[in-house]
Amino acid sequence: MKKNKIKVNFNNMMMSGLGSYGISEKDIKKLSTKIKIAINNLNQKREDGKLGFMYLPYDTKIKEDIKKVANMAKERFENILVLGIGGSALGTIALQRALKHQFYNLLPKEKRKTPKLFVIDNVDPEVASGIFDVIDLKKTMVNIITKSGETAETVAFMKIVWDKLIKQVGKNKLKDHIVVTTDKNKGTLRKIANEDGFVSFSVPENVGGRFSVLSPVGLFPLACIDVNIDELLKGAEYMDSIVSNPDIWKNPAFMMAVLHYIADKKFGAKITVMMPYSNALKDAADWFAQLWAESLGKKHSNDGKIVNVGLTPVKALGATDQHSQVQLYNEGPYDKVINFIRVEKFRKDEVMPHNFKEEETFSYLSGYTIGELLNIEQKATEIALTKNKRMNMTIVLPEISEFTMGQLIYMLEVETAFIGELYNINAFDQPGVEAGKIATYALMGRKKYKEKIKDFKIGKESIRYII
Ligand code: PA5
Repeated sequence: MKKNKIKVNFNNMMMSGLGSYGISEKDIKKLSTKIKIAINNLNQKREDGKLGFMYLPYDTKIKEDIKKVANMAKERFENILVLGIGGSALGTIALQRALKHQFYNLLPKEKRKTPKLFVIDNVDPEVASGIFDVIDLKKTMVNIITKSGETAETVAFMKIVWDKLIKQVGKNKLKDHIVVTTDKNKGTLRKIANEDGFVSFSVPENVGGRFSVLSPVGLFPLACIDVNIDELLKGAEYMDSIVSNPDIWKNPAFMMAVLHYIADKKFGAKITVMMPYSNALKDAADWFAQLWAESLGKKHSNDGKIVNVGLTPVKALGATDQHSQVQLYNEGPYDKVINFIRVEKFRKDEVMPHNFKEEETFSYLSGYTIGELLNIEQKATEIALTKNKRMNMTIVLPEISEFTMGQLIYMLEVETAFIGELYNINAFDQPGVEAGKIATYALMGRKKYKEKIKDFKIGKESIRYII
């Protein structure tokens, strides 16, 4: 197992790497009481069953149920269509991209061996019609994922798909095409699933959307495309054994959280850049952006004070963004921490041939692999940033596999939960997101919410400046 352990290199966050622009061991020591309290709080919440995401790696029963339904889906369908948004979609997208071929859905069936997986996570009207140009609903299983069971975007798409399915396969066959993933007891979708007897999975009550990728939310669609969910959960379980260590010098999740916290408090570094050097991990940065932003951006502290805290996530991709964002990171304001993700061994690679021998400007590349070049570029960017006294750290994945992705997901979730404790905020609610949902319901004329229009000052009189 140790061989495939992911590691975090935080040398370039520290004074040893950055001089006075870095964090000292003394800075960390000064925080020891706060760290102790944060660890106690986190442990207490875990014991009280409030941190459901920490139990997910151990849920063997659900894993087996998922595999059964996924095997049936694999046999019978050409496509899996996921309808969901935010935490009900981003983790699946990230893991599909990480663990399957970038052009998975385009692979011929003999190579793919499973259905294609499409995730619709927006109400874009062109997507809403475009998807039906590439899938035949008669050969499609639809997985409707919404924990609340009522989110407008997901329901909107569901209504369209529902109607089309009835027209194409008939009402009595609707059930064969739908799997519902929602709260165990609450919400309209749960009511419909129970009344009409749809196959359904539950999102545990104590698991919030953005922490739910290792629940049926992510596991079911991923199992349908032969992602090894046992290994994914094993990776998370393994990371749990590491990040349960109260010694922050041995706990990468706690240490990263502490460093981000000090970087904010001491240097005002409120921007967190997540920059994987791997196209397969591009959407993992997107998943992280939601986790970080929605968990940490909060108005109130746990004791009710207005604090307006938060760290702004930015997604970048190496080496592509070396030719765009990196200029800002090297020379712009000192307000960022760059988190690189580096992959030691790629699953596939290409060697650059020994051609253009006369042209030194080309031939120096000969004999290197594309993977080597990518990793050298990551190192080069790291060196340049460090030289410019820019805080950065590197998460090193020995390879991209279910086991390492399980570790990465779990480590970043614990980091987020822990830094929430350091800021003394509730990392598990999202009143800002709910406010948007409520305003949408009000504008769309949903019964209970119509009155809310007044609260949001929505109306002609509020539009004063428009060009
Ligand atoms: O993290 C969260 O709680 C949110 O991003 C939700 O996942 C998102 O709003 C979708 O909610 P639901 O699953 O209830 O449709």
